[in-house]
Amino acid sequence: MQPRHFLTLDDCTPEEILTLIRRATELKHLRERGEDHEPLHGKVLGMIFEKSSTRTRVSFEAGMAQLGGSSLFLSPRDTQLGRGEPVEDTARVISSMLDVIMVRTAGHDVVERFANHSRVPVINGLTDDAHPCQLLADLQTFTEHRGDIAGRTVAWLGDSNNMCRSYIRAAHLLDFKLRIGCPGEYAPKPELVDGERIVFTTDPAAAVDGADVVVTDVWASMGFESEEKERMAAFQPYQVNAELMQHAADDAIFMHCLPAHRGEEVTTDVLEGPQSVVWDEAENRLHAQKALLEFLLLTP
Ligand code: CP
Ligand code: NVA
Repeated sequence: MQPRHFLTLDDCTPEEILTLIRRATELKHLRERGEDHEPLHGKVLGMIFEKSSTRTRVSFEAGMAQLGGSSLFLSPRDTQLGRGEPVEDTARVISSMLDVIMVRTAGHDVVERFANHSRVPVINGLTDDAHPCQLLADLQTFTEHRGDIAGRTVAWLGDSNNMCRSYIRAAHLLDFKLRIGCPGEYAPKPELVDGERIVFTTDPAAAVDGADVVVTDVWASMGFESEEKERMAAFQPYQVNAELMQHAADDAIFMHCLPAHRGEEVTTDVLEGPQSVVWDEAENRLHAQKALLEFLLLTP
């Protein structure tokens, strides 16, 4: 039987995503009460990081330990992957020894090829196309602060990057409206925008107008550092600052997957201000991924 993978949010039904979010909050409360919950005793997670990480690495590693399992950090620098061993061969070999594998890499096709040759579940820990684990944490965070996201409006400001594309998928699955405020030259592919559920505008204030949550991310994602100079100039009008936040709903919250570049895509007063829930959002990576690990490893 083919294992269940989590490469994009589309690998789950809306009901499954809602169940994961609810379970994440339950696991959070369990941990707050200091109760042990170790259903993954003896299970081992392998984590391949071809790009840097703080949150993803720590949350998966801590999460696996808290669930009674363990994890291995695998860097291409000291595995044969870095010396050209094919992804397909690596997947076949390590999936015969592990119970679940997380991969962070550039090309989305790499995680797809990895998953196609793995006999255990593969989790996308970020590619240039998607960051579905972060979306689980974001959706959990919105739900905990503001309730059901269905029917609400999310404003995305900045690059139409991996996070933005995962928000597009989430909007379709969970029935919310997404307004993307972005310079024309960095706009999402036209086929991703329908003008109704997913709206694209070059006007940052129009994107934010009345929104329930304002979200942004770095202007130059990992792998795009060489474009940093031209991106800084192009994205400057899309900076999330106090003036822009005034266009959102009065009770709007602010989210950012982090790491944040203060003074670039977001000002310090917004990031550290009362509307910001970024620290809860970061912590929720732990709880959301524990729910995901349980789901992938324990669902019959
Ligand atoms: N948000 C996020 O994925 O952070 P890291 O790059 O630190 O894992
Ligand atoms: N869009 C960012 C997210 C980092 C967590 C990147 O890909 O670098």
